[in-house]
Amino acid sequence: MLTEKMEAKLNEHINAELYSAYLYLSMSAYFKSIDLPGFVNWMQVQFEEEMSHAMKFFEFVDNMNGRIRLATIQAPPVEWESPVEVFQETYDHERSVSEQIFKLVSLSLEENDHATNNFLQWFVAEQVEEESSVKSILSKLKFIGDSKSGLFMVDQELAKRTVSTDTAPV
Ligand code: FEO
Repeated sequence: MLTEKMEAKLNEHINAELYSAYLYLSMSAYFKSIDLPGFVNWMQVQFEEEMSHAMKFFEFVDNMNGRIRLATIQAPPVEWESPVEVFQETYDHERSVSEQIFKLVSLSLEENDHATNNFLQWFVAEQVEEESSVKSILSKLKFIGDSKSGLFMVDQELAKRTVSTDTAPV
């Protein structure tokens, strides 16, 4: 059973994960506009993963006999200056998502809610992995600077990404 406060914060987090999905879908559209198909693929896999995160929270709230309440999803930005700017924003965004997860963990401890605390641990580990993979792409993009051949190589690498089948307990 969720407390009212926990239920409200988990619902807010469903919205945050849906916004993340929307943001990455918009980034994929930007990469389409500058003809980088590997970057498009990476962002669309990211979109799928964020949708699956939202659905894990969605199912968890229901499994805990909570009431799922969906709200308006904020519009994402649509234009960026460069791939490096996109990945800087992605990295900053993932760090802010990690902070939101940590706040949920703290709330679960305050509320003595062991089930939610246990559920959130998968996301704590997931955020470490997400921040790390985004940071490594960001570093490569900073390293190659304006090199077109460097960008082509990163594009080929990002084309290989596939959706992870890792699942969280719900
Ligand atoms: Fe759902 Fe990228 O965190």
